[in-house]
Amino acid sequence: MGASLLTGPFPRVEGELHCGQVAAEELAVRYGTPLYVYDVGWIRAQAEAFRSAFAGVDHLLAYSVKANGNLSILRALNNLGCGADITSGGELFRARRAGIPPERIVFAGVGKTREEIAAALKEDILAFNVESRSELERLEEIAREMGVRARFGVRVNPDVHALTPHAYTRTGHSQTKFGVPWSETRDLYEWALGREHLQAVGIDVHIGSQIVDPAPYAQALDRVLDLASELRSEGVPLDFIDIGGGYGISYGGEPAMDVRQLAGEIVPRVSEAGLRLILEPGRALVGEAGILLTRVQYVKRNGEKTFVVVDGGMSELIRPSHYGGYHEIEGVGVTAGRSVERVDVVGPICETGDFFALDRDMPLPKQGELLAVRTVGAYGFSMASNYNGRLRPAEALVDGTDSRLIRRRETFEDLIRGEE
Ligand code: LLP
Repeated sequence: MGASLLTGPFPRVEGELHCGQVAAEELAVRYGTPLYVYDVGWIRAQAEAFRSAFAGVDHLLAYSVKANGNLSILRALNNLGCGADITSGGELFRARRAGIPPERIVFAGVGKTREEIAAALKEDILAFNVESRSELERLEEIAREMGVRARFGVRVNPDVHALTPHAYTRTGHSQTKFGVPWSETRDLYEWALGREHLQAVGIDVHIGSQIVDPAPYAQALDRVLDLASELRSEGVPLDFIDIGGGYGISYGGEPAMDVRQLAGEIVPRVSEAGLRLILEPGRALVGEAGILLTRVQYVKRNGEKTFVVVDGGMSELIRPSHYGGYHEIEGVGVTAGRSVERVDVVGPICETGDFFALDRDMPLPKQGELLAVRTVGAYGFSMASNYNGRLRPAEALVDGTDSRLIRRRETFEDLIRGEE
């Protein structure tokens, strides 16, 4: 990302790819493939970069658990003072199990069920980011039944068009399911004002994901701050503004969000408004910290085309096929002197959409060799599935010279657990 003080999380030592100070090949041998590997030092460095960039304002980094919810990663972030942006009862469970205190948890999502709301109220989380009038009504009803006061913010749809690489990750314009339309937001706060079991504490906006330009954030923030100041003058006791996540990283050498520049836009505005700031970075904290190690099973030539068939596929990493996501792929061992060929890197799954890369020029790998797919720490494992009877892969964490398994590979028994 912009504040890249380190050279990168996966250096080459004598031509061999390493994670921290551990050879990637060694990790693959120890834990098997396909294998997710994370460098926790890199995650800490990214969190620190946010912390120092935003130091000028009272802020909470509510890590977006959906990017990567592994307990060990959540614990590492919790130790740095991060909270959690959750989107389901399952993520609440994860965040609490990892020890993240409830006063650092915010809950977004358009479809919160009664059970999820009740569970979050029971935990007494910091705030619900409410996405509709009916949700606010439901929240009030459940809070009343439980005899508690629910803290909430309205997630406003600011109708800002932020450029994201894929339409699926745009959320800040009026044609998406997210947030409350601009024109209805005020009504909602007013409706809640006199209600004993509701307490408005914040206002929330999230404009999309993988955004590298600070401008749409500033634009959305200005709109929301205007509204916040009107609301406060009408007696709504707002304490924080949550500007969501979506800070873009570099997948293939292109520019990433410059976090210092972003902070330069955000910090003065928010501190002038006298509000606390919540940020919900997901990808920016963990994306670059992960690689997927996968072994070449076959190199297959079909007429003109060359396919490198590996032991991972869309069940482990769906970003290439679902969003057209680009991920660098490289040989883990020394490949200098190899001839470069144009290949498709594909998985074993029975779908034409099962690929990591199409028409990629790379030194031609050999059967049995190990490849690393880069920048998969976010939305990699967390979107993995059991499709085609695949076992979800193992995850390992490296901290300097140490490595450990933070999730074991699934077994066939895991595959049928819960079935009659
Ligand atoms: N806050 C809210 C309300 C969100 O909806 C999201 C992501 C985030 C924070 C964190 O966004 P981040 O900082 O990680 O970009 N699976 C897609 C990304 C979906 C993002 C969904 N919401 C991908 O692989 O690109």
